[in-house]
Amino acid sequence: MISTERRPRVIINAAMSVDGKIALVGGKRIKISDEADFRFVHNLRNSVDAILVGINTILKDDPKLTVKEKFVKNPRNPVRVVLDSKFRIPENARVLNSAAPTIIATTKDAPDRKVSATVIRCGTGHVDLRCLLAKLKEMGINTLMVEGGGTVIHSFLKEGLVDELRIFVGSIIIGGGAPTLVEGEGAKEEHEVIKLKFKGAEPLGYGVVLRYGVENAQDDSQ
Ligand SMILES: NC(=O)c1ccc[n+]([C@@H]2O[C@H](COP(=O)([O-])OP(=O)(O)OC[C@H]3O[C@@H](n4cnc5c(N)ncnc54)[C@H](OP(=O)(O)O)[C@@H]3O)[C@@H](O)[C@H]2O)c1
Repeated sequence: MISTERRPRVIINAAMSVDGKIALVGGKRIKISDEADFRFVHNLRNSVDAILVGINTILKDDPKLTVKEKFVKNPRNPVRVVLDSKFRIPENARVLNSAAPTIIATTKDAPDRKVSATVIRCGTGHVDLRCLLAKLKEMGINTLMVEGGGTVIHSFLKEGLVDELRIFVGSIIIGGGAPTLVEGEGAKEEHEVIKLKFKGAEPLGYGVVLRYGVENAQDDSQ
């Protein structure tokens, strides 16, 4: 099931409320994970070759996407990848700091800009994920952790590019129209749902961790 030839192994990791929301209404960040989950997530970050987020997560949360020494002794910061079709990342975004290499994945039609990052161009309109994953693999990136947000998670799942899903469910309810774990247009017909393979659940801190494989995961090694 897992391709190791043409694309990295892709792990989605996110934290959601019991009602499936990953931020407050309007997209403002909320701490859903607790200390126990943060410890796990920082160890997971430390074990992968790259971490990927969408440009909206950068604009809303301004994350550094590094590994905290508080959780991991002698951290090795993986490469950070931002999906940014229009190349609009702010110059002062914290993900562009010198703590780790950064890749801006953009499109062939996006403008040229000088930023302290490597630029990869794949597709037009939106970043072509298959092209990007193939290029990341060529660069030696064998494991990729996708941290969000919901639009990016939807694209990866819809294209069958996810090998593993790890969700921390914090014991809160956000409600209303807050961003959900998976955005996009959603399934209108039963055959459009994305089928998961349940791998396990365990209590962690004040919440529960859910683990799944994905049935439509494409093996691009052929
Ligand atoms: N709880 C958690 O674990 C967690 C983790 C991360 C984020 N979040 C939350 O998620 C929210 C942001 O999520 P979001 O859904 O609005 O945005 P997002 O997934 O962070 O970014 C989506 C944007 O990425 C760009 N993009 C480029 N190529 C793409 C492709 N092939 N597929 C998908 N997107 C592509 C698009 O913008 P362009 O067209 O401009 O390129 C798209 O609108 C924030 O509120 C943040 O707090 C929560």
